[in-house]
Amino acid sequence: MKRTVEYLREKKKKSVPVTMITAYDFPMASIADAAGIDAVLVGDSVGTNVLGYKSEREVTVSDMVHHTAAVARGINSAWLLADLPYQSAESASEAQKNAQLLLDAGAEAVKLEGWMEKADIINHLVMKGISVCAHIGYNPQLHGMKPKVFGTTFDEAKLLIESARRLEAAGASIIVLEKVCEEVAGLVTESLRIPTIGIGSGRLCDGQVLVLYDILGFSEKAYRHARSFINLRDLSIEAIQAYRAAVETRKFPEEKNVHHSNSEVFERLMRY
Ligand code: KIV
Repeated sequence: MKRTVEYLREKKKKSVPVTMITAYDFPMASIADAAGIDAVLVGDSVGTNVLGYKSEREVTVSDMVHHTAAVARGINSAWLLADLPYQSAESASEAQKNAQLLLDAGAEAVKLEGWMEKADIINHLVMKGISVCAHIGYNPQLHGMKPKVFGTTFDEAKLLIESARRLEAAGASIIVLEKVCEEVAGLVTESLRIPTIGIGSGRLCDGQVLVLYDILGFSEKAYRHARSFINLRDLSIEAIQAYRAAVETRKFPEEKNVHHSNSEVFERLMRY
């Protein structure tokens, strides 16, 4: 069944958790889709997870378009979102132009980092018929590579709650809460009609999002907010070492992997 934003809102109404993960290429997108994930995000985390960049700030709109198109080819059911990368949505017209490129590549919605200061830009996109996912709390594009937990002081918690309300009023379809303390994420979730999707924001959000490579155990780092459900890094190293050993000991390829020449052709070749 094709997931839509209405489907996600229904889940919130029924208190059924929404599932979201990131994906950056065709095979992983089709695996996420086959696993029945509600929403797939082509995050700007593609920069650090796939492209070897030092920070999300290096990710360009053309990087995002390239990866969004690959992911879109692998999706049948999930709702597909793509990130507007660093400094690609500084004005309403620029945000609209870049969002359109992501939609043309196959995204159904765009995600935009920023607290209440982004309300006007989000409203502009929504007025142009573009679905938007807001993203508050820790914003790697704005706060750099030094994550901290948000909402621990009264003033910051108030700003988060007000931002979430303003972004909902601006027309955001859903909102990601990144590294917000659990109690404040709970208050934000209760006060909104749109689903909240948490990452490092505790158990009281309407849904959860994790970076695919953290779930699969590809990352060398372990993060407090994440869980690896399998260790594909170690399994991949073992598999590649086994391949290497098989080649080095001439155990691969075997007879069943070989294409043979026609014997007449071969005999002629031998006499040539
Ligand atoms: O880019 C990303 O992966 C994200 C998630 C952490 C929500 O924005």
